[in-house]
Amino acid sequence: MNGETVRVELGTRAYDIHIGSGLLAAAGASIARVLPGARLAVITDENVARMHLATLLGSLGGAGLDAHSVVIPPGESSKSFSRLEKATEAILAMRLERGDAVAALGGGVVGDLAGFAAAIVKRGMHLIQIPTSLLAQVDSSVGGKTGINSPHGKNLVGAFHQPLLVLADTDVLDTLPRREFAAGYAELAKYGLISDATFFQWLEQNWQAVFAGGPARIHAIAESCRAKARTVAADERESGERALLNLGHTFAHALEAECGYDAARLVHGEAVSIGMVLAHRFSMTQGLAPAADAVRVEAHLKAVGLPTRIAQIPGPPMLAERLLSHMEQDKKVSRGRLTFILTRGIGQAFVARDASRDSVAAFLRDELSTGRSQAGADIPA
Ligand SMILES: NC(=O)c1ccc[n+]([C@@H]2O[C@H](COP(=O)([O-])OP(=O)(O)OC[C@H]3O[C@@H](n4cnc5c(N)ncnc54)[C@H](O)[C@@H]3O)[C@@H](O)[C@H]2O)c1
Ligand SMILES: [Zn+2]
Repeated sequence: MNGETVRVELGTRAYDIHIGSGLLAAAGASIARVLPGARLAVITDENVARMHLATLLGSLGGAGLDAHSVVIPPGESSKSFSRLEKATEAILAMRLERGDAVAALGGGVVGDLAGFAAAIVKRGMHLIQIPTSLLAQVDSSVGGKTGINSPHGKNLVGAFHQPLLVLADTDVLDTLPRREFAAGYAELAKYGLISDATFFQWLEQNWQAVFAGGPARIHAIAESCRAKARTVAADERESGERALLNLGHTFAHALEAECGYDAARLVHGEAVSIGMVLAHRFSMTQGLAPAADAVRVEAHLKAVGLPTRIAQIPGPPMLAERLLSHMEQDKKVSRGRLTFILTRGIGQAFVARDASRDSVAAFLRDELSTGRSQAGADIPA
């Protein structure tokens, strides 16, 4: 196989992530190996269905696996109770048995919704993740977090439900819009920034090859999956080390909330890019990390075409107090203290559980007042 396999070590719930070229067309054989004779409910969205569903269904049929598909509208709004109800009813109408499986073919939206459906139908069905966005391949398809949104906030209703197998076909990313690829790349670079300076340096030198496809893309995704798999195996339910995966995310979630989750203004990975730069810059102002590292992080994310400053987000200027109030509503707040992932430099992130509200407020006010004049080009619409 032109690819790599990463194992997520979770005892009786351990599973493999296959990363490589041509995996979608070979999915039937891979799934038949772990679930011989199973029937499958394939959940996907309209965009992915148009481009990749026929390949998957052909492969499943070729391996003698009976499959039916459920196609949902694309976009974050599908992570809702009403869509969950429709999906679970559709799975039940297929009369699947407990040993059968739900397959999620799509980005993080499909993975989270289908994963949650798999977690609750018949108190838990097998789940196969077939991630088709870069974000889903390096992040959401691995680790077992599933769920939907509530009017109270994102991802507030859900369950931990580990997949049985993850098939990340790196060729399907060729049809992903460049903006979405870049957004996923922010999460990929995150693994270097958290704990692997060598990987970050490799990305600085090889990012163009990762965007182009081929062995460099496979290597970068496999490295990311190894990092995520290690973290999840050490701390499945995020009581400690797994929190490091939220590098940049406290800022990012506040920015997304302030944009009303309007993807035309800001998609998640773009918010993470800005958030990671802010985490490095805040760490620098606190005397924790060298200024040169913050400059390097920003330069790299900018080079791949990601936004790095709040002022680049189209729309009305943002206010520090409003961003702070979003941060305080984030579920990462524990007993009133703001938990931040800060850093001592590239590859040296750590969990800071008692960041002071005043220092974050002062930092944000400063970023927002100097930002407008220094920012580069706006995010392309
Ligand atoms: N469970 C987790 O651990 C976890 C982690 C991170 C993010 N998430 C969730 O993931 C979601 C974001 O995921 P996403 O960025 O993949 O968004 P997404 O699923 O909305 O996909 C982005 C867009 O790309 C399209 N698309 C996907 N694959 C494609 C392909 N191969 N070719 C062409 N178009 C394609 C989709 O139709 C969609 O329009 C959020 O809801 C977030 O909360 C979950
Ligand atoms: Zn993220």
